[in-house]
Amino acid sequence: MALILGIESSCDETAAALVTSDGRVLAHRLAGQEEAHRPFGGVVPELAARAHVEMAVPLVEGALADAGVTLADVDAIAATAGPGLIGGVMVGLMTGKALAHAVGKPLIAVNHLEGHALSPRLADRDLAFPYLLLLVSGGHCQLLLVRGVGDYRRLATTIDDAAGEAFDKTAKLLGLGFPGGPAVERAALEGDPKVVRLPRPLVGSGEPHFSFAGLKSAVLRARDAGVHRPEDIAASFQQAVVDCLVDRTRIAIGVADGATALVVAGGVAANQAIRTALGVLAVENGLAFSAPPLWLCTDNGAMIAWAGAERFAAGLIDDMDVPARARWPLDPNAEKARGAGVKA
Ligand code: KG4
Ligand code: ZN
Repeated sequence: MALILGIESSCDETAAALVTSDGRVLAHRLAGQEEAHRPFGGVVPELAARAHVEMAVPLVEGALADAGVTLADVDAIAATAGPGLIGGVMVGLMTGKALAHAVGKPLIAVNHLEGHALSPRLADRDLAFPYLLLLVSGGHCQLLLVRGVGDYRRLATTIDDAAGEAFDKTAKLLGLGFPGGPAVERAALEGDPKVVRLPRPLVGSGEPHFSFAGLKSAVLRARDAGVHRPEDIAASFQQAVVDCLVDRTRIAIGVADGATALVVAGGVAANQAIRTALGVLAVENGLAFSAPPLWLCTDNGAMIAWAGAERFAAGLIDDMDVPARARWPLDPNAEKARGAGVKA
């Protein structure tokens, strides 16, 4: 049994966790930065990097204390090496390298997306490869066939915004506050999803790609019409996202060779309406359904430690000159989606 320290710092969450190779989370600590970014209505990269500098080592010390272990007990140190806001990634990766060097333990450079992609296997130890993964976060919206550790085939991506980005922009447009996803979900509970007619971009198209930019523009027009309650716009928006995700995932199920489970991960997977709708879709298609608990959906250190544990078990360790990467696709062979903008 191996013990892995995981460090996460790719966006606006600094986190450290200790996880065993048999899937026990011995400790996980997390420091959010909502207060620092709230005045700006979004994550400010330099403020994020500065906060990671302050929090990374105290969180590692706290996690070690919670677990009652020292760095000498750890078998490997895993740190997010991208993709993400580069300043933050550099802080976390350098922290991991320094600790690994100081105690002479192997370093594992983890792709943040692989952290999300494998997190369902930490939550559900029976979940076997291959599975169809809907990865929905602030920066990504992808359908992936997860064939094994480090072995991903991207079936679809967004041609413009990520799903979480659409939630965040909608929250901002409606004045619901920051962070946007949970704020929209709360407002939607008080609203009627049938009141505002919003588009379902790409629904019905043969390839399972996503698009959310048009939906955001429609939210802006609905708001400016001045006749709808923000709660009704929020509920209608959330329903539109649910319909898009379900329709696109249904297409991907048709080409997800060998998958016996549908899995959802990433921050947007914390949304209850989305979890419920995907669970129904899985049942309709004879697939098992798996969604990690909410704390494991949004960014955290345990998913990085767990991806580290899976890589360590596969003998995948990294050299000390491994780079920090702002961009790092899980499937390097994936072609650009047709019609995709610069972000895809
Ligand atoms: O995975 P994550 O924590 O960070 C990234 O890697 O991007 O995802 C953050 C995204 C944000 O866009 C946030 O608004 C969204 O996940 N999110 C939600 C909910 N909780 C977080 N979106 C919808 N409903 C939620 N309950
Ligand atoms: Zn994430």
